[in-house]
Amino acid sequence: MHIEAMKRMNNASPLILALDTSDLQIAHKWIECTRESIGVYKLGLEFFAMFGSKGVEEIIAQHGVEIFLDLKLHDIPHTVAGATRAVAHLKPRFLTVHAAGGAAMVSSAVENAPSTDITAVTILTSLSDADLKDLGFASNALMSAAQLAKVAVGGGARAIVSSPFEIEAIRESVGAAPIIITPGVRPADSQGGDDQVRVMTPQQALTRGANYVVIGRPITSLWSQGAPAMRDKAAQILAESI
Ligand code: C5P
Repeated sequence: MHIEAMKRMNNASPLILALDTSDLQIAHKWIECTRESIGVYKLGLEFFAMFGSKGVEEIIAQHGVEIFLDLKLHDIPHTVAGATRAVAHLKPRFLTVHAAGGAAMVSSAVENAPSTDITAVTILTSLSDADLKDLGFASNALMSAAQLAKVAVGGGARAIVSSPFEIEAIRESVGAAPIIITPGVRPADSQGGDDQVRVMTPQQALTRGANYVVIGRPITSLWSQGAPAMRDKAAQILAESI
């Protein structure tokens, strides 16, 4: 199929598949078998540390898919501006920065990647309220995430990553326009067995106001059963989500 036609086909899917693999050939195969159901593919630090911009270029050239580049940039504005410029030519749909870097840092990313929605990560879901207290935060994870989202949107961020449990608080703090993306989702028939603890189904997260959900292992762990199993699972999750 022509790449433009493939792009149009998937624009409506709210599913972002996390390509958490350090094997480039496997990443290609995962995309091939899930294309019909996935809107955007997430490439994270593991992939980028291994394959860099060239690896991302290869994925885009071969598949024409939209990319969520999850680099979680967090540094002084000058350095973030340089790092953002270095990847801006890839035109990822989303590029993550840490909201905790402050509004000026978020703005430096926004100014240097005009074709990309700069996406702010609020509080890592690996941090508990007790951890935040130890770190000197005055409020709990929910309130801190809402506050960080507000600062990031003030700096020009067009999307926010949060736990599904923070969607309503973040919507209240940033309004209707910013895109909300939530990992920490599991399909209703998920068997568990991995490290996501507080989860919602994709449908619950979308109903609460998320625009996209990030999902990985419930789909990618089926690779050992073959490409059709992965394809079917992605299609099933999409059908349950919309
Ligand atoms: O395999 P799983 O569905 O848990 O993958 C979720 C993806 O979302 C992983 O790439 C993980 O790093 C990412 N993520 C997360 N929780 C966060 C932020 C990102 O699970 N709070």
